Amino acid sequence: MSNGDVSQGRRRFLIGATSAVGAVGAGFAAVPFVASWNPSAKAEAAGAPVTVNIDKLEPGQQITVEWRGKPVWLIRRTQEMIDNLEVMNERVKDPDSAEASQQPAYISGDTRSLRPDLVVLVGICTHLGCVPSYRPEVAPADLGDEWLGGMFCPCHGSRYDLSGRVYKSQPAPSNLEVPPYRYDNDATVTVGLDPETA
Ligand code: FES
Repeated sequence: MSNGDVSQGRRRFLIGATSAVGAVGAGFAAVPFVASWNPSAKAEAAGAPVTVNIDKLEPGQQITVEWRGKPVWLIRRTQEMIDNLEVMNERVKDPDSAEASQQPAYISGDTRSLRPDLVVLVGICTHLGCVPSYRPEVAPADLGDEWLGGMFCPCHGSRYDLSGRVYKSQPAPSNLEVPPYRYDNDATVTVGLDPETA
């Protein structure tokens, strides 16, 4: 391979990498355009369910899948993380998930999940739509001694706990959304289908 081939290949890689980054940022704007010419993309944007194998998801780990063009997080909570949710009840704005628009009716309580060890959240800040960072550490220097793990939005500083419940007095007005989801079996979750769906 000549030097020309190498730089060509590198250029192609860089273009590909840039496009991938751009695609994340442009996801919402792109949906109406794509949907207008591609019927299958339109069907997908309308809500095709996404099945996820969670077998290898270790306690404390988070994975992201895409559903309806949005990032959806699946987080396997440790027992300590689950225990800390009760401590957070005092600090969050809507501890009991009273705002009905933010989760399906079968999601309630401080775990906001079908099973305590796995929480499923739409990873979009309810303030202006940035993607918050997953920060599972306890008391990291930049978030302070009281931080028990959660999500931090870098855009305007909104804080959420490990159930996606927004702290009091934040720019974000409400908890992170919980999408519809169900367990197909112990190792498989489908995002976009309710538990009672056949
Ligand atoms: S978009 Fe998250 S705090 Fe503003």
